[in-house]
Amino acid sequence: MNKEQLIDHLNADLANELSAIIQYLTYAAKANGPYRPQLSQFYLTEVADEQLHAQYLANKIVALGGEPVTIPAPVAKAGTNREMLEAVLEAERKAVKNYTQRAIEAEECGDKGLAVQLEDMVRDESGHSEETERILRDWPL
Ligand SMILES: [Fe+2]
Ligand SMILES: [Fe+2]
Repeated sequence: MNKEQLIDHLNADLANELSAIIQYLTYAAKANGPYRPQLSQFYLTEVADEQLHAQYLANKIVALGGEPVTIPAPVAKAGTNREMLEAVLEAERKAVKNYTQRAIEAEECGDKGLAVQLEDMVRDESGHSEETERILRDWPL
């Protein structure tokens, strides 16, 4: 793992964070039915976390000498509340997996500060994933 590869991987992570921001904003708008107030609030709260992740990654990419991407990864299409929650769960689980791997790569590159930050992000994404999993656990429809 050299610095250029690490920058490329962080840029893929940044594209996913930009996508997560759009995904949560869109799903907050689309949530309907009796649980709309809670779902909408839940999604909007996530936007703030993902924005901080995106901000950190963009800064780090520049610090490493790279150019941050500005195009998000595609957002999963989802119609119903259940489909939206399932798409969110999949994205959050993927984020946990990606940042776990990225923290190892940061260690390999000797960047302890980045590794620690990425592990913090593993904790954040694990929290998002667990909350979403619990909402889905007794989902009525
Ligand atoms: Fe995130
Ligand atoms: Fe997340």
